[in-house]
Amino acid sequence: MNQFDFTKEINKEALTQCANDLRGGKLVVFPTETVYGIGANALNEKAVASIFQAKGRPHDNPLIVHVSDTAMLHEMVPYVSPIEKKLIDTFFPGPMTIILPKSEKIPSMVTCGLDTVGIRMPSNEIARMLIRQANVPVAAPSANISGRPSGTRLQDIKRELQDNVADMIDGGETDIGVESTVVKVQEDEVIILRPGKITPQDIEKLGLKVVLDKHTFEEAKIEEKVESPGMKHRHYAPTTETVLCVGSTLQKRRETMQAFIASHPEQKIGVIGVEENREYFQTFPYIAVGKKDDLDGISHHIFTALRQVDTLEVDVCLVEGVEKQGIGIAIMNRLLRACRYHVISIEE
Ligand code: TXA
Ligand code: MG
Repeated sequence: MNQFDFTKEINKEALTQCANDLRGGKLVVFPTETVYGIGANALNEKAVASIFQAKGRPHDNPLIVHVSDTAMLHEMVPYVSPIEKKLIDTFFPGPMTIILPKSEKIPSMVTCGLDTVGIRMPSNEIARMLIRQANVPVAAPSANISGRPSGTRLQDIKRELQDNVADMIDGGETDIGVESTVVKVQEDEVIILRPGKITPQDIEKLGLKVVLDKHTFEEAKIEEKVESPGMKHRHYAPTTETVLCVGSTLQKRRETMQAFIASHPEQKIGVIGVEENREYFQTFPYIAVGKKDDLDGISHHIFTALRQVDTLEVDVCLVEGVEKQGIGIAIMNRLLRACRYHVISIEE
């Protein structure tokens, strides 16, 4: 495995090697503006199969196809509706994935047999140059073993994937920290299948109707049919038991955590919380994720924090919730899954 450091500048020679490897059917780990991806030539069935293998990914969870420009996009989808075009014109390149009808060029292995494909055009310069130079669409899920938190720093995911990929590109910490907003247009509505940095309000500003999928904050039942298969799978979970502590104010969330601690004297407890609550938990291992009003900062740190939980050596880790607004919707969607929907509050 080759590891290349692009944190200071893009090494053109190394980029060419990675692009050639990708094109030739090998796997490459690369940064995007959301999280790191593990990419394969989307037109090469064998390469795509090896992604499922490397991640231990269930074979009913389709991959997103990444393109470098609209010309490549139109080769992969036969038709784009006016609303879809509006989304593409506004949000591409950027942290959005749009579910579109799929062209026959894309192997059904990529979409797990669905007749739609998720298309994304990342804005991260390394990602775009890599795809442009490989000159093929790139199927890339988040670079992590299935079920683990996504990776926002190469050092967090290196050991999970290094034996199964040809190259890894270190582009430093990713900007956003949670994965792209996944949307699907149905009739005249934009359905958000997975919330992200691009919020319902951002889409409403275009004069479009927006609906959050009902599983945004709710667990899908095993037998239930879901719009996005990824919603059903175990996700982001540390091995250590985690409990999501919610409340309408900073103080209520703190009191919820304190109440849990008071009623579990026999357990060793850690906390993931905001800066403002740190001083109240001085005798506990505490991972601060940012200031309470800085939701972008919290989203940037959340996956690294979840990855640190298992190093705290505690019986239970309490996770402080955030407000469900803006990118807070995406943060809470990930935290609920990470905590396996175990939520407590002292409020009714
Ligand atoms: O930000 C991101 O989107 C990152 C970076 C690497 O681009 N990628 C990513 O991929 O998060 P992944 O595979 O971890 O998540 C893709 C999600 C899954 O929940 C999957 O079920 C859903 O998108 N998805 C993919 N294709 C779909 C389709 N045709 N219909 C519905 N959902 C789809
Ligand atoms: Mg993922």
